[in-house]
Amino acid sequence: MTGALPIPPVAELRKRQSAKWRTFPDDVLPLPVAEMDFPLAEPVAKALREAVDRSDTGYAAPTRDLADAVSRYARREWDWKIDPDDVRTVTDVGIGIVEILRRVVSPGDRVAISPPVYEPFSWWIREVGAHVVEAPLAEGPQGWQLDLDALERAFADHVTAYVLCNPHNPVGLVHRREDLVALAGLADKYGVYVLSDEIHAPLVLPGAEFVPFLSVSDEARRWGFSFLSASKGWNLAGLKAATVITADPAPKRYVDRLSPHSLYRTGHLGVIATVAAFNLGDPWLAEVLSVLDHNRKLLEELLVKLLPDVRYRQPQAGFLAWIDFRALGWGDDPTDHILAAAKVALNAGHRYGPTGIGHARLNFGCSAETLTEAITRIAALS
Ligand SMILES: Cc1ncc(COP(=O)(O)O)c(C=O)c1O
Repeated sequence: MTGALPIPPVAELRKRQSAKWRTFPDDVLPLPVAEMDFPLAEPVAKALREAVDRSDTGYAAPTRDLADAVSRYARREWDWKIDPDDVRTVTDVGIGIVEILRRVVSPGDRVAISPPVYEPFSWWIREVGAHVVEAPLAEGPQGWQLDLDALERAFADHVTAYVLCNPHNPVGLVHRREDLVALAGLADKYGVYVLSDEIHAPLVLPGAEFVPFLSVSDEARRWGFSFLSASKGWNLAGLKAATVITADPAPKRYVDRLSPHSLYRTGHLGVIATVAAFNLGDPWLAEVLSVLDHNRKLLEELLVKLLPDVRYRQPQAGFLAWIDFRALGWGDDPTDHILAAAKVALNAGHRYGPTGIGHARLNFGCSAETLTEAITRIAALS
């Protein structure tokens, strides 16, 4: 059962020319790159088709449509009040974070992250000449959470900024309000900017509630930036449009220093698609969330039955699963063996930080058939 979404068969998906489908040979099931296999949301596809029919492929225009759409979505979904004047369009979340980091840190500064975390965070920090400081997540019997003691130790040791993953890729953690309040308190105490990557927020699954960082306190607003886009939720990554949001004049003055050209570096079709997604994409997203909810449980059932020695905890958000293969003795990077012998491509866990050794990240934004085939192939190796 994969809900009402007609997910194309793999032979059809292989006609896509995106990274997920062109990085590996045709005999490999590609489950690393964070793209989903669902057909586009119809309102998004329609908006794009109409733009192409108009030959409307020029530069993004300086309209308020995107800011208005994001603000309305945030209000509707999370009761988060954003002033559209505080929303700035950027090319993508990566560029938004790098450009803000360039303005709040100086080369040689220290910027903290909480591994295991989305690998490019450390690339982005190094790109601006800063040093990466690790304050790893804590894993307890109830699951993952921010380690506030580790964060305080890092912040006290001359950290200038912290890149928060909210929700947290790759473990699918939706941060608790009290942790975000405490994080904001630490940011205020030690003078640390918090760049909250909220790209996976529309994908929070049943049972969890997304808490926007800027909504938690005055301290969060004084030190925080939020990065939000439709690119993960509605699978629009290649179209290039995202936003950076502030809620206080202090961080906003850094946003105001972004190049006036940043709008023209944003995809015009990306803006069109994002506006359609935030304004009209709720019904499609609801179907996707129900498929993802089903798939995260199916994955657990498959692993319990076919690979009982691996460890997996259902994520609270997104379409990414974090799997601990260490008990199988497949080495520090089990993905090498899995790719070579099972022809299933996964992301190597060690790339998300030292705590990811022996782990892998799997993308379950696919059909139940693909997920079952992948786990069956991997289980045949054990
Ligand atoms: C946490 C996180 N941030 C950012 C990105 C990349 O976003 P963008 O393509 O907008 O730079 C991803 C992509 O998977 C992600 O998981």
